[in-house]
Amino acid sequence: MTDDTATARPPRPQRGDELELHIESLAFGGAGVARWGDEEHGWVVFVRDALPGDTVRCAVTKRKRHYGEARLLEVVTPSPDRVPAKADHPGAPWQVMPYEKQIEIKAAQVEDALRRLGHLDGFEMLPIVPAVEQWRYRNKLEFSFGTDRETGELICGFHAPGSWEDIVHVEDCLLQSERGNAARRAVLEWARAHRYSAYDRRTQIGALRNLVIREGRRTGQLQVRLVVSDGVEIEAGSLHAAVAADSLLLTEIDTVGETTAGGTTSLLAGEPTIGEEVCGLSFRLSGQAFFQTNTEMAEKLYGVAADVAGLQGWERVYDLFCGIGTIGLSLASRSGEVWGLEIVEDAIADAIGNAKANDISNARFFAGDVRLALRELVEKAGRPDVVVVDPPRAGLSQKVVRRVLEASPKRIVYVSCNPTTLAPNAAQMVEEGYVLKTVQPVDMFPQTPHIECVAVLERGA
Ligand SMILES: C[S@@+](CC[C@H](N)C(=O)[O-])C[C@H]1O[C@@H](n2cnc3c(N)ncnc32)[C@H](O)[C@@H]1O
Repeated sequence: MTDDTATARPPRPQRGDELELHIESLAFGGAGVARWGDEEHGWVVFVRDALPGDTVRCAVTKRKRHYGEARLLEVVTPSPDRVPAKADHPGAPWQVMPYEKQIEIKAAQVEDALRRLGHLDGFEMLPIVPAVEQWRYRNKLEFSFGTDRETGELICGFHAPGSWEDIVHVEDCLLQSERGNAARRAVLEWARAHRYSAYDRRTQIGALRNLVIREGRRTGQLQVRLVVSDGVEIEAGSLHAAVAADSLLLTEIDTVGETTAGGTTSLLAGEPTIGEEVCGLSFRLSGQAFFQTNTEMAEKLYGVAADVAGLQGWERVYDLFCGIGTIGLSLASRSGEVWGLEIVEDAIADAIGNAKANDISNARFFAGDVRLALRELVEKAGRPDVVVVDPPRAGLSQKVVRRVLEASPKRIVYVSCNPTTLAPNAAQMVEEGYVLKTVQPVDMFPQTPHIECVAVLERGA
């Protein structure tokens, strides 16, 4: 007969229960990880905004079979690693950790993902490339308009963490340049003076939705895009007088959900694009084109990709998920030919224009879904020697990995913004005979948990 009292699982905390927990580590995505209960019957709890070494008081917000989530109420005993916050706005959740600690954790998380999730071994982990600038490094920021609950005044800032409704007003965003901040304040002042209201998703009434500010860090050019509800009329002359942008755009959106993508974009003043320079090349950026948000670190990232690609000048290179062609064009002078594939047609039009503007004649770009168009590309272009992939956070589907392997490149350069999807993709490649050689993390986003890395895999003998 067994003794039930010795083995019974103690009842788990309920939603809303307050707990005092010691934070042991950080999970991917940045939440603190604590254990409630003993080793045998324990339950993992993720606490946002808590750091390893903190003892915190928190309230359970989610209760699942294998884990729970909790909201931080109070840091009872702070971690010895804590430093005072600099930014008084959301968007910099890791600012309470010294920068050296941030990059140490990011590098460890990349390695951990590959070893534990991908069961990979035998690769060389190269030291993380730290960021050039720890603050004011972003070339693009998207802000939301809202209404101050107490004063009823129009405000502009970020969503409060975890809220789709509450906006935290921002005076000085420490991730944005002083000039970008000045542009946001100028637009807000103009909007208040003209008595525009913020769009309210509950009532679906109101004019102003988002403000997207983009800067060419190397050219000094400024693009301001105001995102409004469909049919809202904007007095372009007074707005341009208030904010002297090189490119002033208006996007009208008719969906209920918050998005700055899609809709109808028109030019209010200046040029439709601004310029930016990376790796000695010039790029034109339209309002909705994808472009890495940290110019200085994009150059480092592409530099790492170019080094590990090991090009000698004759190779056929595929740049899959190529956006506006930045990686492929930066490799063109070291390759025989470059073929880019990307799903967004406008981005491909930009890539073709960028090749022309930089006098690059050995790069060709096509619009298409990698999943469907890769076989066709192989038929048209011939088998690649090197394939560069730079997919969104979801990584590659198993089918896309199979398509890449079918093309049988000698080398795959995998630029990843999510080590937890890189790991299973790399594992599938290794199962099919490729060898994971090196992995190098690059910190593009200081003060946040995000990490980019470049992995290189080579076809086995
Ligand atoms: C992380 S971005 C990389 C862009 C570019 N390499 C750069 O560094 O600027 C990923 C790109 O993949 C594109 N994309 C997403 N799904 C795709 C698909 N199924 N086929 C082709 N491109 C896709 C997106 O439009 C986006 O431009």
